Amino acid sequence: MNDMITRRRFVGLSVAAGATILAGGKILGSTSGTATNPVFKIGGDLEVDRLGFGAMRLTGEGVWGWPPDRANAVKVLKRAVELGVNLIDTADAYGPEVDELLIAEALHPYPKGLVIATKGGNTRPGPGQWVPNGHPDYLKGCVDKSLKRLRLERIDLYQLHRIDPKVPMEESLGAIKEMQSAGKIRHFGLSEVSTAEIERARKVLPIVSVQNRYNVEDRKWDKVIDYCEKENLAFLPWYPVGGGRGVKSAALDAVAKAHQASVYQVALAWLLQRSPVMLPIPGTANIQHLEDNVASAKLKLTPEEWKSLAA
Ligand SMILES: NC(=O)c1ccc[n+]([C@@H]2O[C@H](COP(=O)([O-])OP(=O)(O)OC[C@H]3O[C@@H](n4cnc5c(N)ncnc54)[C@H](OP(=O)(O)O)[C@@H]3O)[C@@H](O)[C@H]2O)c1
Repeated sequence: MNDMITRRRFVGLSVAAGATILAGGKILGSTSGTATNPVFKIGGDLEVDRLGFGAMRLTGEGVWGWPPDRANAVKVLKRAVELGVNLIDTADAYGPEVDELLIAEALHPYPKGLVIATKGGNTRPGPGQWVPNGHPDYLKGCVDKSLKRLRLERIDLYQLHRIDPKVPMEESLGAIKEMQSAGKIRHFGLSEVSTAEIERARKVLPIVSVQNRYNVEDRKWDKVIDYCEKENLAFLPWYPVGGGRGVKSAALDAVAKAHQASVYQVALAWLLQRSPVMLPIPGTANIQHLEDNVASAKLKLTPEEWKSLAA
């Protein structure tokens, strides 16, 4: 990929050519792959570059324990910020605890404008195991502990990792609302939810973001993205480059070849063009992969290329 302009300069030069910004601050794009706005305001006031970083991959095997090379994990986080990334996604369950501690170790005191999005409500009985817990007292404790580990006074974006089927959603969200009223949470989002669940949650408290599994090859949640776009909610796709398996197809290979890019870069460019509310959070523990992923914000697919991947 031609990488002659820096990401910062590119961001400065870019115009939201494919997105119509309305007077009310809402951004309406299209599902035809024409979104080009470089930034998005989460909750209407937290401006971030749309290409973020997912920190889950920095922990040990099975998202459990400390990484084998802790110094490398710290380096990756620092490099992400150096490259201009200002949205980092994590969760108390990553490690557990380890990921949040690593972020504070690497980046505290945090640079102005860095948004750390964390999550609670998923417990970790062991490596690779995830069990939701949406009990109100448990969730309130999660918020307090994340604040402590991250060394923050307020969490910019707190997300409910999973709705617990054993607890009425309103009870879990009521606890979050209390934490928000106490000033411990700025904005709140959901993870792995349907449109009906988002609408139900919005009756309890404002929702600013949704984090569901989505990538060029896994488009189960297309309708949720359309809903987010209509309502101006951020959509943070997890597994944006296909998770551990990785994205792969002949169509991706062809577009990647045409741009002298990797299929991962093409997959990220595809997501960014999919919707103006899309904030991909690719995860990596590898500095070169991180640099490649950040550079993908500059890669523009033609409408034909975008459609060839959306088929
Ligand atoms: N809300 C949820 O339930 C949920 C669930 C899962 C994840 N998440 C969040 O979403 C973030 C992203 O998901 P993810 O990390 O699981 O999946 P992902 O970003 O789709 O894929 C990460 C994998 O792809 C590899 N990779 C990344 N960039 C690459 C590149 N340029 N070239 C080659 N390989 C590359 C990484 O390996 P290397 O380390 O070798 O680069 C890693 O194994 C997580 O970090 C986490 O913050 C949320």
